Amino acid sequence: MIAKTMYGLEDVLADELKGIGAAKITKSNRAVYFEGNKETLYRANIQLHTALKILIPLATFDAKNEVQLYNMVKEVEWDKYISTSDTVAVDGVVNSTKFNHSKFVSLKVKDAVVDQFRDKYNRRPSVDASNPTLRIHIHIDETTCTLSIDSSGESLHKRGYRNEQGTAPINEVLAAGMILLAGWKGDCHFIDPMCGSGTIVIEAAMIAYGIPPGIFRKGFAFENWNDFDPEIFNHLMDSDEYYKEFEHQIIGSDISAQTLRIALMNTKSASLHKKIELKASPFNELEPPEGKCMVITNPPYGERLKPHQLNNLYKSIGDTLKKIYSKNQTDAWIISSNTDALKRIGLRPSKKIKLINGKLECGFYQFKLYSGSKKSKYQKQFDGDTADKGKLL
Ligand SMILES: C[S@@+](CC[C@H](N)C(=O)[O-])C[C@H]1O[C@@H](n2cnc3c(N)ncnc32)[C@H](O)[C@@H]1O
Repeated sequence: MIAKTMYGLEDVLADELKGIGAAKITKSNRAVYFEGNKETLYRANIQLHTALKILIPLATFDAKNEVQLYNMVKEVEWDKYISTSDTVAVDGVVNSTKFNHSKFVSLKVKDAVVDQFRDKYNRRPSVDASNPTLRIHIHIDETTCTLSIDSSGESLHKRGYRNEQGTAPINEVLAAGMILLAGWKGDCHFIDPMCGSGTIVIEAAMIAYGIPPGIFRKGFAFENWNDFDPEIFNHLMDSDEYYKEFEHQIIGSDISAQTLRIALMNTKSASLHKKIELKASPFNELEPPEGKCMVITNPPYGERLKPHQLNNLYKSIGDTLKKIYSKNQTDAWIISSNTDALKRIGLRPSKKIKLINGKLECGFYQFKLYSGSKKSKYQKQFDGDTADKGKLL
């Protein structure tokens, strides 16, 4: 099977797969390959925080044009998976100079599937784009085609708890990935002081309390398959094997009271409103709880702010971390696409990880704050980020 993910999250996804008992785990680019049975497949969809989709590859072949693609897709015995009374949909991702349009490629794949049935049975399955019996996925990398069936349906980042969103919500899979990359395991307080619609704190709470992210979903594509096993699925959905105790505080705060109302609605729809404290406050006025804290935040990147306002904001983030958060051994992580603004924080990052948020290349920077550390250490401006592309420093 293939678990698809986002750039930079392959390691944490591989760890998660190990945790659900997957075998033969191999990391690739934005994907992790693994083996397992039907239960592993259902678990992957229900339990993984950092997977976008779980695919089952049926065939990998070389095709240089649409005719070759059509012929190869027709080789698969599609009546093992569907009958003429079922429905299909095809999604495509194309990165090739030989094939330009993913829509056209998807159409060709669909033609090959339905033509096979017409040739054999004189009848064909119809197309249902929203809730088909079988969702087929074609991925073309230059001339290498991977034909898979999609067990997830809608991308797994759509957990089902987000009804409302703020101005620039972060993808749920990226938020969970950041928390796992930061190494937070629920062993101290967690704060997102610029929480917007609450994505990072909700993902943190799910990790802390062991709540499987798939539990809120309306459904998964594999529920429509002819080999769907409701007994295994219902057992996994109803099981309480996942849940954990958590003894610290999770705090989301934002300067905008309006945005916090959205965060509150989202925490309620995830049934986490009693587990997450929401506070309307600018970061520099937020009082952290006593004891060790993990701060993970996604400040504005500057699309709506003037450069001097953005620089002041990042400078004030650094000042607040130094002044308030170094008292209680805080591990602070900040994601931003604006590396110039990140320099205004004025602290030397101990780690820089490259991630991609939407289409924006971002730095996810760690700042370790210890009490008693020499002030001068923090006052050193760090000198740029030229050497950090994609690796841990
Ligand atoms: C990019 S958004 C965060 C989005 C959030 N991660 C989500 O998933 O919805 C940045 C947030 O920072 C907040 N913000 C800006 N300046 C702030 C400040 N000084 N103190 C606290 N929050 C601030 C904004 O109101 C906005 O909600």
